[in-house]
Amino acid sequence: MAKTMKPTEQTEVSEAQIAVHWKEEAYYQPSEQFKAQANMRNSQVFARFGLDEFPDCFREYADMLTWFEPYRTVLDTSDAPFWKWFVGGKINASYNCVDRHLTKYGSKAAFIFVPEPEAERDVVITYRELYDRVNEVAALLRGLGLKAGDRVTFHMPMVPELPITMLACARLGIIHSQVFGGFSGQACGSRMQDSGSRFLITMDSYWRNGTLVDHKANADIAVKTAKELGQDVDKVLVWQRYPGKYSAKTPMVSGRDSFVNDLLKDYKGKNVDPVPLPSEAPLFLMYSSGTTGKPKGAQHGIAGYLSYVTATSKWILDIHPEDIYWCMADIGWITGHSYIVYGPLANAATSVLYEGVPTFPDAGRPWRIAERLGVNIFHTAPTAIRMLRKLGPQEPRKYKYHFKSMTTVGEPIEPEAWRWYYDEVGKQEAVITDTWWMTETGGFLGTTMPAIHAMKPGSCGPAAPGIHPVIYDETGVEVPKGSGKAGNICIRNPWPGIMQTIWGDRDRYIKTYFAKYNKNPRSKDWRDWPFLCGDGAVQAADGYYRILGRIDDVINVAGHRLGTKEIESACLTVPEIAEAAVVPVQDEVKGRVPEVYVALKPGVPPSQAVIDRVIKANEEVIGKIARPKHVYIVPDMPKTRSGKIMRRVLAAISNRRDVGDVTTLANPDVVEQIRIMVQGKENTTTAQGELPEDIAKYGQVE
Ligand code: WTA
Repeated sequence: MAKTMKPTEQTEVSEAQIAVHWKEEAYYQPSEQFKAQANMRNSQVFARFGLDEFPDCFREYADMLTWFEPYRTVLDTSDAPFWKWFVGGKINASYNCVDRHLTKYGSKAAFIFVPEPEAERDVVITYRELYDRVNEVAALLRGLGLKAGDRVTFHMPMVPELPITMLACARLGIIHSQVFGGFSGQACGSRMQDSGSRFLITMDSYWRNGTLVDHKANADIAVKTAKELGQDVDKVLVWQRYPGKYSAKTPMVSGRDSFVNDLLKDYKGKNVDPVPLPSEAPLFLMYSSGTTGKPKGAQHGIAGYLSYVTATSKWILDIHPEDIYWCMADIGWITGHSYIVYGPLANAATSVLYEGVPTFPDAGRPWRIAERLGVNIFHTAPTAIRMLRKLGPQEPRKYKYHFKSMTTVGEPIEPEAWRWYYDEVGKQEAVITDTWWMTETGGFLGTTMPAIHAMKPGSCGPAAPGIHPVIYDETGVEVPKGSGKAGNICIRNPWPGIMQTIWGDRDRYIKTYFAKYNKNPRSKDWRDWPFLCGDGAVQAADGYYRILGRIDDVINVAGHRLGTKEIESACLTVPEIAEAAVVPVQDEVKGRVPEVYVALKPGVPPSQAVIDRVIKANEEVIGKIARPKHVYIVPDMPKTRSGKIMRRVLAAISNRRDVGDVTTLANPDVVEQIRIMVQGKENTTTAQGELPEDIAKYGQVE
């Protein structure tokens, strides 16, 4: 039954229905045992970090770091909204993560590396060894002529050499830009071009799902892509997964490629003094997807970022140096940078680094690792939780580990999956923090403080200390708390973890994150610059936020942000394709997956071969995670009279929901043809429940 509604009405209806359909979940309380040992137990902290205390409250974060020279100004707003934190200070991230722990924790493990093959032994790296290895790599990088401010791209898997190389860069002030190892060589190359990197650091191979992947092949593609885009790459440094042995088939290119392990021979035992760098010098770039296809490099600065991840690791992850902490995420994403490398190491953590996939060789693997190593803090993403639950709901019971706290990050977690995490994985002993944040924010924005707040499945909780969110409607009017109305969640104030800018694109930074709600572009007052997070959210009467997903054209696949335009331009590299549109589809395990609609050029007959080429193009241009669930060849795209593709209509079809009123389209008939192609002749728009907010709003930002 087709309802007829104008798009604006439809938005309002869906918001109102959220109010009706959203069942309030029961609270869960942290145990007394957890509370007694927690790093942060004083609820006064929220008063200390009230808006009236801003920005001076964040001195407490800066005090957790060791400074070479003290800072003079907490927050400099003179170039708003390009905030500068702790100005005037001199600091080094590598020193804070490594050197300063040597006296007390030199012989304690910093990392325990767990290779994917179960027969291979763990590699324990103490703080002393980490210090030695970071110094040698720093000496090598310096020997190659690299210096503060240079950019170096990494395309590395989950191995200890990745954090070691990151910290070596940080020691010298070299800006690292790690591209997720699962991304394609092309994706890596375009990011190299954007950041102007002349150096690529990679590894020959790594284990993934039982296969030793030839990763070096991607380096050659990356260099070629960068060159085509105008960026020369002089050097490719190749780590060996098995030192002294080359485990890839792709030949080394003479003059350009070198094995790191060979070069390091000249730097054995060399020490490099950590360079005292200005607080606001950039630490790294992390590329993330946005509304356009162009790579968007979030630039994070040293002192603000490091203080923020250090404090939140201590208070929210509740890391003590005596804990065994495991964040089962990839360092190639912001979660890994903030909460595997910088935050935990600054707190002298012992941290598990796992190379492979969570379900290899079976769904008991994470729990075996946890039991064997005595992991007591566990951190992962809803997609992994759903997968482990699906493949081995009872597996955790078989292992005698005990978690005191657990974290979830990356996408909304449905209350059902949350409860499995709590009951089975956490054995009803562990607290859960559902941490909501993003690449741009450096660290947590929305989360409970685990010893202070009750947990509520499906809601991330209130905001972290010193974070003051506000939900605005489209017109900039504040949505009142407890109204059950959805809106665009923003942060009223800057905080130390916020990115500094988009690398090389100040205008895009302002346009993407501030323009929507800023009323005076010349203002130097931070109050005029609420930060647009890019998510829809509702706030319940108790103040807890429930995140509804992205409001821009970004599809969050298994917790990984993929840009609509990136996927569509990948499809358009196939010569037969005239037009492409991608939509997010709900998926039991991955949250969302992309589905692609393509129209062929005149005279090209539809074929499976074309579909295969579209799939391959996505894997080559972006990576396997962008593989579409389906590719549909359609006679024409549903379009407005002005020729705009109506992605919203395609999203409704793919998600088996009502398409709404399509009579105003230029080609309304095609909608029913496409619907039949996707859903079959019978009307199958019977899926339960309302369309989730991110899918309902999908395609509205163009
Ligand atoms: C989503 C990952 C609900 C959100 C740290 C955000 C979440 C995007 C949560 C950022 C959560 C992250 N609950 N949604 N706990 N955490 N998200 O940049 O849509 O890879 O905007 O950073 O993930 O993804 P990103």
